[in-house]
Amino acid sequence: MTEHTPTPALVTEHPERIPGYTYGTAQAAVSPLTLEDLDRLKAAVWLTADDEEALREAAEILADQADDMVTAYRARLGLQPWLGGYSGHPDGTPNPGYGAATKPRFDRWIIDACTRPLDRDWLNYQHEIGLRHTRARKNTTDHADSLDHIPMRYLLAFTAVVIATAPTYLAAKGASAEHVRRMHSAFTKSVMLHVTVWTRPYVDAANW
Ligand code: HEM
Repeated sequence: MTEHTPTPALVTEHPERIPGYTYGTAQAAVSPLTLEDLDRLKAAVWLTADDEEALREAAEILADQADDMVTAYRARLGLQPWLGGYSGHPDGTPNPGYGAATKPRFDRWIIDACTRPLDRDWLNYQHEIGLRHTRARKNTTDHADSLDHIPMRYLLAFTAVVIATAPTYLAAKGASAEHVRRMHSAFTKSVMLHVTVWTRPYVDAANW
């Protein structure tokens, strides 16, 4: 393992050691959303208590695959030259230092998306992640030389990749087809809830 490749234990047990990961701290942004907004969105994506249980089960299966999942997402992004400047240098040439700096946080998000309680800390860190895709905060955490804003259309479109590729990983430890279906349904709802909240910094309150 290099210092840039988190071990499964780091992914699951010591998130506070991940540079730039400010979940639950005063350094994270303050979300303008209320807990009532969150409850209503949770109902809108139809995230049930059964889904929350299935997500905990998914976390066990995904914990040591999260780094591979993010590698696969990035490979998919890398096939599209028009996206190169957002993760690379502004001219689209590779920026491995930036990729290495952000990867442990992205890995950790997969586990968080399955395990974190939906509370004020969750709202705040999701707002922070949204901001980090926009010119408000992109590049600032890692002092990166990269384009300063990911268009919302790509953030939304890429959600399909995150959702559609999940069953392979959920099935990797021998879960039954029905169990994979249940975890995938829950994961789909969780990813949609996250990305929906991430769009808040892109849009004024009245339109959002
Ligand atoms: C559903 C779609 C997406 C998901 C789930 C996702 C997830 C994440 C997560 C979890 C982080 C780390 C946030 C943190 O600092 O804790 C992150 C950061 C980042 N993402 Fe995404 N992302 C998505 C779409 C995209 C797209 C389409 C691109 C590029 C075209 C992209 C490029 C980046 C970059 C460059 C960063 C680092 C931002 C910074 O400078 O702090 N993401 N993303």
